[in-house]
Amino acid sequence: MATLKTSILGIEFENPFLLASAPPTASIESIDKAFEMGWGGAVLKTITPDNLEMLEASPRYATIKKNGKVICLQNIELLSHKTIQYWVEGIKYLKEKYPTKVIIASIMAPVERAEWQNLVHILNNTQIDAYELNFSCPHGMPEKHIGMAIGTSAEISTLITAWVKAVATKPVFVKLTPNVTDITWISASVERACADGFAAINTVQGFMGIDIETLDPVLNIDGQSTFGGLSGEVVKPIGFRCVAQLRQSSDLPIIGMGGISSWEDAAQYIALGSDAVQICTEVMINGYGVIKGLKSGLLNYLESKGFNDISKLKNIAISKITSHEKLNKRYHLYPNIDSDKCCECGKCIKICSESEYHALKKKENIIEIDKNVCEGCSLCSHVCPQNAIKMVK
Ligand SMILES: Cc1cc2nc3c(=O)[nH]c(=O)nc-3n(C[C@H](O)[C@H](O)[C@H](O)COP(=O)(O)O)c2cc1C
Repeated sequence: MATLKTSILGIEFENPFLLASAPPTASIESIDKAFEMGWGGAVLKTITPDNLEMLEASPRYATIKKNGKVICLQNIELLSHKTIQYWVEGIKYLKEKYPTKVIIASIMAPVERAEWQNLVHILNNTQIDAYELNFSCPHGMPEKHIGMAIGTSAEISTLITAWVKAVATKPVFVKLTPNVTDITWISASVERACADGFAAINTVQGFMGIDIETLDPVLNIDGQSTFGGLSGEVVKPIGFRCVAQLRQSSDLPIIGMGGISSWEDAAQYIALGSDAVQICTEVMINGYGVIKGLKSGLLNYLESKGFNDISKLKNIAISKITSHEKLNKRYHLYPNIDSDKCCECGKCIKICSESEYHALKKKENIIEIDKNVCEGCSLCSHVCPQNAIKMVK
């Protein structure tokens, strides 16, 4: 029998699914509801010093949809508006009611030792299981020289990690931004400052565009807009890449996130090196109840693979990711077209010729492949609306 139980740095998790620091963890009532439904833990909406001014904008969301489904969310929301005392009392309430659930305090403060250490001194006296340092919010906070302004500087990230580590009595995870040229440059720096683990990714900085009728920004705040954070399905490949790069460069625990909407996504994050996962956008869109399918799906999968727990799945894909230079260039696949499925739309021929490969031609209603010219790039198989093209040896 497989189990979803896991442990990271001595912290026991009922299951590896945590709510990410975001609107679903903005109040104790919501986290209470989520724990009741089976979430393994929650990262509290980022707690800041009570005197940090944060004025929210309205509206603060924009979306990209595909077939009616939100695949990308842009937000310009800031951090928790609750007082530190609210969280201290809330943590006590939650830990009394749910002693086995993991609670991680996400924190952010101005770049002053006393501000960070004061937050930690207060939260050390609660029953939180760990800290998550939010060095990664891409909007609003960088203007105050915090959030992503910290996480894009190895020097400041290192400094703050060391301040926090000097006083924290619980493990310290650093939540990293994907909005850097090389995430391992920052992760290696905070590892040297004795961070205990990483959480990645926070949202990807983006801009939703312009309404070409009104010529106003799509996310329109009284005629103006700002760059925001993208999350949901479209950021998943970026999250996968960041987590894999972190795992290739470090043995520290990683809590992976970014675009998880199914147990299959979570399984991939684990195979790429995550010790647990966090989810935000999927929960905002489809509710806390998604945990049921996530847990049963992952458990069934572990059993089908003969894995006792997620430790058998963890890192399994890492050795399969290498540099382009080391890829086997003698490996060559060719398209095999199933003529029964082909609808003769010509999309494969078009993409092949207009991408300058010129390997596909139509002869008497049959698509022919010139193997002397075909580079086996696979583009044709991706545009076929009938899935009639398979790449084969
Ligand atoms: C509306 C919104 C608010 C967020 N607020 C925070 C926050 O306060 N602190 C934080 O560390 N991350 C915050 N995040 C980022 C999420 O925790 C998460 O890193 C990101 O959304 C990627 O995961 P997802 O694709 O599952 O949403 C927020 C995300 C959204 C969409």
